[in-house]
Amino acid sequence: MAIIVVNGVRRDVQAPADTPLLYVLRNELELTGPQFGCGLAQCGSCSVLLDGKEIRSCITAVSAAVGKDVTTLEGLPGRWAKQKGLSPAEVENTLHPVQQAWIEEQTPLCGFCQNGMMIKATELLERVATPTVADIKEAFTTSGPSAHLCRCGSYTAIIQAVQRAASAMGGSR
Ligand code: FES
Ligand code: FES
Repeated sequence: MAIIVVNGVRRDVQAPADTPLLYVLRNELELTGPQFGCGLAQCGSCSVLLDGKEIRSCITAVSAAVGKDVTTLEGLPGRWAKQKGLSPAEVENTLHPVQQAWIEEQTPLCGFCQNGMMIKATELLERVATPTVADIKEAFTTSGPSAHLCRCGSYTAIIQAVQRAASAMGGSR
């Protein structure tokens, strides 16, 4: 049992402390943005932000999230709204620029991997306002425990969506 903060809300978790965070998010908190892909930190589909850093929730015990801020795909609009100081009324109709760019570029194919792609993009753009293509490739391949995998091959569209999001967030395209 633990208390964790997910998307800005304190949540009382009943699962044992060594339960993977992914299982808690999906099964107990009903946040189904993070996906179960490999379960071995080798695909990125389960990614969430932990204090702003992308982690693989399939291999991270829920106890590791105690005292830190967890952001899931569902929490990206609220994260952006807080960063920009948007009003509650504005928040209702706001997506994170990364999510909006994903829609405008029509990035997903089957969509299974795209949770991790958007989480990684958010982490990158909070750190680097105007990433180069090399920066984007590095973020999605060698910056984490493994590359983010897309079996549908949406990699080119992902690069374009990250560039669009960077522009929307104030960087240049
Ligand atoms: S399900 Fe976690 S990295 Fe693949
Ligand atoms: S869009 Fe299908 S796995 Fe990436």
